[in-house]
Amino acid sequence: MQSPAGLRSRRQAIARSWDLARAAVLIPAGLPVPIPGSDQFHDFHAHPEFTYLAGARTPGACLAFDPAEGWVLFAPVPSLEDRVWVGDGEDLEALAGATGLPVRPLPGLRAWLEHRRGEALAILGNDDITYRPAGYGIESWAALELDVDHSLSTRLGEQVAESRRSKDPSEVALMRAAADASRGGHLLALRTALPGMSERQLQIELEAEFFRHGAERTAYGSIVGTGSNGAVLHFSPTARQLRNGELVLIDAGAEWEGYASDVTRTFPASTRFEGIHRDLYQLVLDVQQSAIATVRPGVEYRDLHLAASAHIAAGLVDLGILRGDPAGLVERDAHALFFPHGLGHMLGLATHDAGGCLKGRTPSDRFGLKWLRADLPLQPGYVVTIEPGIYFIRALLTAPARREQYRDAVDWDRVDTLLDAGGIRIEDDVLVTETGADVLSGAIPKSIPEIEALRAEAHSR
Ligand code: GLY
Ligand code: MN
Ligand code: MN
Repeated sequence: MQSPAGLRSRRQAIARSWDLARAAVLIPAGLPVPIPGSDQFHDFHAHPEFTYLAGARTPGACLAFDPAEGWVLFAPVPSLEDRVWVGDGEDLEALAGATGLPVRPLPGLRAWLEHRRGEALAILGNDDITYRPAGYGIESWAALELDVDHSLSTRLGEQVAESRRSKDPSEVALMRAAADASRGGHLLALRTALPGMSERQLQIELEAEFFRHGAERTAYGSIVGTGSNGAVLHFSPTARQLRNGELVLIDAGAEWEGYASDVTRTFPASTRFEGIHRDLYQLVLDVQQSAIATVRPGVEYRDLHLAASAHIAAGLVDLGILRGDPAGLVERDAHALFFPHGLGHMLGLATHDAGGCLKGRTPSDRFGLKWLRADLPLQPGYVVTIEPGIYFIRALLTAPARREQYRDAVDWDRVDTLLDAGGIRIEDDVLVTETGADVLSGAIPKSIPEIEALRAEAHSR
């Protein structure tokens, strides 16, 4: 829970950074999206810019700002029909108390906007107000005769993204709570998964444990891949059952008051990591731990990614999968055949949080860099994921053009024997401190002895 005083000072700081003489700013939370053919809605997720600035996640609410009058929150007042079908919603007075904002009933928003006709208008948050205005009590957006200033919206949005990068202590507390709930789920999976259980069963058990630990939602669709499915980076769980000799990769995180955790663990179906799985797991773990040990203010995230890529390339050379000098292999992006994604991303009110790329930097189109989602120097208060992986992705490893391009860089006969080996990823949530790193998800076991002890527990039940 964030304090109303803290939220007020956050909004004051943002307003100062905007430095607006005259303008109107709207930050809609977004409207629930109906599910066709039912009287219900998709799971509602308030826009993170709204949550950040309002300190609330009220569906259909709209935060508004004007430099002369300051901030005001317009909140929906439920109709009789809403109250019958959905419930009473949030009490406006309670909302004012929790957010430190003046709160007015949503029908006042139209008049607020009419008074600002002719002024520059910026829209942050969910812009559904322009194409679903009725949801905000406005009959027609066009009839308001407002011109949205898109470049102003971009500038103000960038300033909010910049401010969101560094988490304040109240945000860190929520992210710790999210990571603790994730710990419960991952521990349960490590302790109970057995051959014969389906990906779906694992997902259900893990998510139930998140909720039992107090989480309100999962931060993103849980990824559970057994065997070769573990090589699909964002695999949605199916009825496929875990088999002996395979690995299972679980990338799942609990959400706490809108704040995400994002955690991946990979473990054997049996009680032990065997053969190449053991070597590759230890390599990914070493890469992850060296990257975490390097985290400190001033370090460029892109350099962490490139160092991890070189570490993976060197390990794959030692294991006889890649051939050549690791630095040269990374220059040619050969490591990306096995580690195609970035080392991680910013984390916060979104799983891939705002502000990951420093202004003026554009994503590279290089095979080894194009999925890097963070490119900035780290600063205290940033929370980033560190998530190296090694995968045997058929689509990449059987493409004739890639085989030709990397003919000399890969032992392709060896790779052909590993096409069903799946994937390994280890992912933690890392807070940058003044002197180094604090791993928010660090209590979730990942060393080989810890994981094997938990797997032995599962098999002894
Ligand atoms: N869980 C999604 C990701 O790691 O990016
Ligand atoms: Mn992630
Ligand atoms: Mn993840």
